[in-house]
Amino acid sequence: MIDIQIWDEERKTRWRELLPLWHSFWDGEPISSGVWSTAEDYTQGRTNLVYDRVVNGTLPIVVAYDTEKAKVAGFLWSCFIYSEDKKKKGSEKSNNGSFKFETYGFPKETLTRLTALREFMDKLTTMADVFNKFSVDEAWGLHTLSVSPDYGKKGIGTQLLAKGLELAKESGVTLVTAEATNRNSLHMLKKYFNFETVLELSYAEHYGNYCYIPDDVKQLQPSASALVKRMIVARM
Ligand SMILES: CC(C)(COP(=O)(O)OP(=O)(O)OC[C@H]1O[C@@H](n2cnc3c(N)ncnc32)[C@H](O)[C@@H]1OP(=O)(O)O)[C@@H](O)C(=O)NCCC(=O)NCCS
Repeated sequence: MIDIQIWDEERKTRWRELLPLWHSFWDGEPISSGVWSTAEDYTQGRTNLVYDRVVNGTLPIVVAYDTEKAKVAGFLWSCFIYSEDKKKKGSEKSNNGSFKFETYGFPKETLTRLTALREFMDKLTTMADVFNKFSVDEAWGLHTLSVSPDYGKKGIGTQLLAKGLELAKESGVTLVTAEATNRNSLHMLKKYFNFETVLELSYAEHYGNYCYIPDDVKQLQPSASALVKRMIVARM
């Protein structure tokens, strides 16, 4: 049976249980896979990166847990994102952009590819300009969604996103953002959750790492999208 759980304090004690799926996300998600394919000695660095994101993150992680097999079948990791103004005011909440990839001991080529990926994702966020467009200075960013191929296409990804949105709503944020780098996530966000596309950015024009994107991705989805969902928050 799959149980949808919220890991808040559990992040600190159980983060290792998320590792296999996080690694498979990096290897399986089309754009991320183009970052890692030539690296051989990055596993420890990636593990440290997962540790930092999970243990030092500020938002609960939504976990799909297989109670019979006692293993994680999928998870959704989120983070708050802020406008420049809010950052200047010195918010206590962490921001995804603060991870310094240079400190994880990745091989040089991996670092170059990671930097290109981050630059592309930053460009997507900046050009989408959601803070000005929607007059907010913080948003809940849905960031990493991973379902094990063993549990795929059974509605688990949709359940994880639904729970993530429920948490966002409870937090009182009025805007949720997401990036879709492949057609499956784009399909889910639009069909089941009414996300609207704010910007579509072509990989060929904007991605410094373009040559490493797998050919089937280039053909089937030549761009990434920035999406938002406006949350209706009940007033007290
Ligand atoms: C994308 C992903 C999270 C989907 O999880 P999932 O549990 O299989 O999704 P669901 O069963 O809830 O399916 C939701 C919809 O997406 C479609 N879908 C999911 N995976 C698909 C795939 N590999 N190919 C085609 N369609 C897919 C389903 O058919 C369904 O749409 P439908 O109801 O119109 O048929 C999962 O495949 C995954 O982890 N992929 C690798 C990482 C990734 O790409 N993450 C998203 C980017 S952040």
